[in-house]
Amino acid sequence: MKVKTAQGIRDYRTVWMEESVVAMIDQTKLPHSFEICRSPGYRETTAAIRDMVIRGAPAIGAAAGYAIAQAAKEYAKQDLKGFSKHMAEAEKTVKSARPTAYDLFDAVDCVMKRVEGIGSVDEARRIAAEASSSYADRSMENCRLIGVNGEKLLKNGCRVLTHCNAGALACVDYGTALAPIRFAHYGKKEVSVYVDETRPRLQGSKLTAWELLQEGINFSIIVDNAAGYFMRKREVDLVIVGADRITRNGDVLNKVGTYEKAVVAKENGIPFYVAVPETTLDREVVKGDDVFIEERSGDEVLCIDGVRVAPSGSATRNPSFDVTPKEYVSGYITEKGIKKKF
Ligand code: MRU
Repeated sequence: MKVKTAQGIRDYRTVWMEESVVAMIDQTKLPHSFEICRSPGYRETTAAIRDMVIRGAPAIGAAAGYAIAQAAKEYAKQDLKGFSKHMAEAEKTVKSARPTAYDLFDAVDCVMKRVEGIGSVDEARRIAAEASSSYADRSMENCRLIGVNGEKLLKNGCRVLTHCNAGALACVDYGTALAPIRFAHYGKKEVSVYVDETRPRLQGSKLTAWELLQEGINFSIIVDNAAGYFMRKREVDLVIVGADRITRNGDVLNKVGTYEKAVVAKENGIPFYVAVPETTLDREVVKGDDVFIEERSGDEVLCIDGVRVAPSGSATRNPSFDVTPKEYVSGYITEKGIKKKF
């Protein structure tokens, strides 16, 4: 993605590897400052995922794949048995970082499978590095194709509503929900975006708005509660969101609030699309309600940017994701095309 820096416009991926260090755009600092977080080992990379320095399903996946490569590099001995034990421990640690985004599990399994049964530790290290880097490259290419395929849905002058951040920052590059918008903009179509602010962590107003500003795409931030107002006034032509996990039947797990947008879109006859790479598809789980939903700290509800906005002593519930049943989805924009069913 293009980023305006003091040194001019630079091209960045959200996450990449430099020797044995994983480098990531620090999303906890945006939009106030653009900083790169450098994580020296797999435990630190796991912590960066857990603490949301990096977030968004495909970006978490790429970081998790790199973390497994870091674990392989960190093992200093040549003893294969010890190496397997060390890698099994790393796999458990990395997979524990966050529970819902499926790409994390997909990436770890993909890199782990490649090192299984390799005859020497040196060779396994080399293969882990190669597998994690090609996983990230493939992930980026999938998002590019989502952009190319989804762009066709956007007519000149169209108004798109999106929830949370499913942009380049949530991926290695391009984004999922934002990729079709980017490509329509590159193709000189006029597009404008309603950006749900996305409480509690404000990924919409902090991250999506920042990305759209970098690209020069028109947008308006709206409070989460205003989406229905604009849909009913027919000021939204289509909704595009990303996904953290798709279950076998096509149900969508995405940032909490997505379900409400889907229901209101259907009520108003507005198409509701989910932009998602196949790495987010969990073939093992049949339906959305079977997936464990992360509940995060109540402080995210009680405070905004560290400032308390609710009386002390208030109880909270803070699910991070919700389930949108497949019946609400007009189509899935994937790297293979636009599908009615997943
Ligand atoms: O809790 P987060 O910020 O990691 O939430 C994930 C998301 O960014 C969204 O749900 C997103 O729309 C899907 S990931 C491309």
